Amino acid sequence: MTAPGFDDIGACVFDAYGTLFDFNSAVDRCRGRIGGRADELSALWRQKQLQYTWLRSLMGRFVDFWHVTGEALDHSMKVVGIDDPALRAELMQLYLSLEAYPDARGCLERLKKAGTKTAILSNGSMTMLVSAVKNAGLDDVIDAIYSVDRAEIFKPHHSVYQIAVDELKVPTQRISFQSANGWDAHGAAAFGFRVAWINRFGQPAEALPGDIQAELSSLADLPDLVGA
Ligand code: LAC
Repeated sequence: MTAPGFDDIGACVFDAYGTLFDFNSAVDRCRGRIGGRADELSALWRQKQLQYTWLRSLMGRFVDFWHVTGEALDHSMKVVGIDDPALRAELMQLYLSLEAYPDARGCLERLKKAGTKTAILSNGSMTMLVSAVKNAGLDDVIDAIYSVDRAEIFKPHHSVYQIAVDELKVPTQRISFQSANGWDAHGAAAFGFRVAWINRFGQPAEALPGDIQAELSSLADLPDLVGA
């Protein structure tokens, strides 16, 4: 049954990393070569990647997410004491073919079958996103990919969320936005989207502006939420 606030949804827009694609899968595939600090490297890489997007946005020094991801990896490898250019190159390549979470395809298929428009809106550069979607075999269930590239600033800046409204030509309050990243869910809610926080990591709520309307543990519950 459709949930209140989600009864007139014209499009479902998804965050990419952490929501559709498992960013830990890059480090996972090189675990043997990284050794005991693999989990620490993966967590730090992600943490620095996000921090650098926020800091660059505040500094007005945008470079694309590929560049930021590389700089975050350089710093993180130093912290865990790994100096291995070949490993660095491999981890970056793997970021182009991250695994999709097991609940992603089924959710997108159901939405498509119900005639709901699906799109990605991500910090990722267009090249990274096209590659991730293609490698995960999701190109037949994603209608559109929108990158922050054209806004030249990262989430949660409002101009990023505005890209989806302008492109989809669906009013803000008829867009359901899904993110597993609590801060992104709040950013999207503060902008005016209907927001489902996909709390796949069971995290406590963030204390940030923006009222999130729904919290789901998996994307599998999204089609029911929006009545698809
Ligand atoms: C994205 C990051 C925030 O895909 O996960 O935009």
